[in-house]
Amino acid sequence: MEYGNKPHTNAHCLVLPFPIQGHINPMLQFSKRLEHKGVRVTLALTHFIFNKTKHSHQSSASSITAETISDGYDGEEAPSIEEYLTRFRCIGSETLTALVEKLRRSGQPVDCIIYDSFVPWALDVAKELGLVGAAFLTQSCAVCNVYYNVFSGGLEIPVTAAEEIRVPGLPPPPLWVADLPSFVGVPESYPALLDVVVSQFANLGEADWVLGNTFHKLEEEVVDWMANIWPMRTIGPTIPSMYLDKRLLNDREYGLSMFNPKTSDCMNWLDQHPNGSVVYVSFGSVAELGLKQMEELTLGLKNTNCYFLWVVRATEEAKLPKNFAAETAEKGLVVSWCPQLEVLAHPGVGCFVTHCGWNSTLEALSLGVPMVGIPQWTDQPTNAKYVMDVWGTGVRARPDGDGLVTGAEVERCVREVMEGERGNEIRKNAMKWRELAKEAVGEGGSSDKNIDEFVTSLIRF
Ligand code: UDX
Repeated sequence: MEYGNKPHTNAHCLVLPFPIQGHINPMLQFSKRLEHKGVRVTLALTHFIFNKTKHSHQSSASSITAETISDGYDGEEAPSIEEYLTRFRCIGSETLTALVEKLRRSGQPVDCIIYDSFVPWALDVAKELGLVGAAFLTQSCAVCNVYYNVFSGGLEIPVTAAEEIRVPGLPPPPLWVADLPSFVGVPESYPALLDVVVSQFANLGEADWVLGNTFHKLEEEVVDWMANIWPMRTIGPTIPSMYLDKRLLNDREYGLSMFNPKTSDCMNWLDQHPNGSVVYVSFGSVAELGLKQMEELTLGLKNTNCYFLWVVRATEEAKLPKNFAAETAEKGLVVSWCPQLEVLAHPGVGCFVTHCGWNSTLEALSLGVPMVGIPQWTDQPTNAKYVMDVWGTGVRARPDGDGLVTGAEVERCVREVMEGERGNEIRKNAMKWRELAKEAVGEGGSSDKNIDEFVTSLIRF
């Protein structure tokens, strides 16, 4: 699938994301940055993702193409995460190798495989084929560093609730168990996924580049610490400049979306509301809220009396109280998916109630939108901790003894962010980080220079 045609240098990167939306987005956006620097990019998508995102393969002024590899299931349900990962490793390695060969035979030899660090076997493929191997970290450096320390023995798990946790390389504030990524804080919850996040580091020492979707000023100390171990470079935020500059918002870029965004519904609705008046709510592409949590959230949102735009994925819709949409039609809009970057860049949005997935966190931070963090699992608790206690761009909701964020707590947090003294402080910080993010990826910024260095090395190669 060809997206368009643009001139390119001789350098050709094959980009392999882990097949979930939150990993595809940053790698696609990074691919676009490479393309702007003259690099030819081919995406290696699993058959499942290729087919699922077909509707969004919009042709545009881009030369990025997508090819397929197999995860061994190709859309059929895997019996377990463990079996999926094992088969993906085996069949993925074979079909990735075959894809590189196919591209070589068709006169498009690949120089470098940029692979999601969740699939470290791709580095073995790159090395076997004599290619440059660049690991792409899709999560924050703070989170990656926690995982690395579990791998290297710097952090012993399990940790106990009473412990203040100091992780080598991570500057204060110290973390508590509830601030750790869930796979580490509760290691028995998803042992297969704990294995994935820890195993990222098994061969990372052999990577030619380690690219982090963050920016230097955001995670300065931990980035510098990691750069002492690996050829680490920050290249983020991987957000198109048109959103960072809040310009050309009618010029939609192509994406690879597994969901169908209700773009005009959302944007027309937002246009009708005053600046800073809307609470945008989304829990990303994976999280599933419990029935009771959903109920509390609806209650909290209603009680804030704010306008709200809420993304409830089709698979979650049945959890909404009956008649909710009709009852709240004057105040809210519920959609199954939205163009999140456009939404966050809209002046109507005053606050983002988020699960704190790394993309959502980085997007809100880079677009200057204050957050209310309601983390669910994986890296989200750590991101929420940083949003509140390190970057000061939001508050984290406190769950009750049963792990439930009550309606009253949702209301308290939204009010804190939207109103009053604390809200002003948060908005000021949000603006500061927005400028720093823009600076990092702007011409000559820290991330921009790192991308140039990477591209130059490929051209030499
Ligand atoms: C997953 C993990 O859950 C997350 O913790 C990890 O950091 C990355 O991988 P996900 O849960 O989907 O990702 O969350 P997030 O990282 O925030 O990514 C969601 C992406 O989908 C964002 O880029 C966001 O802009 C986009 N999105 C979300 C939309 O485009 N529309 C929506 O309606 C909701």
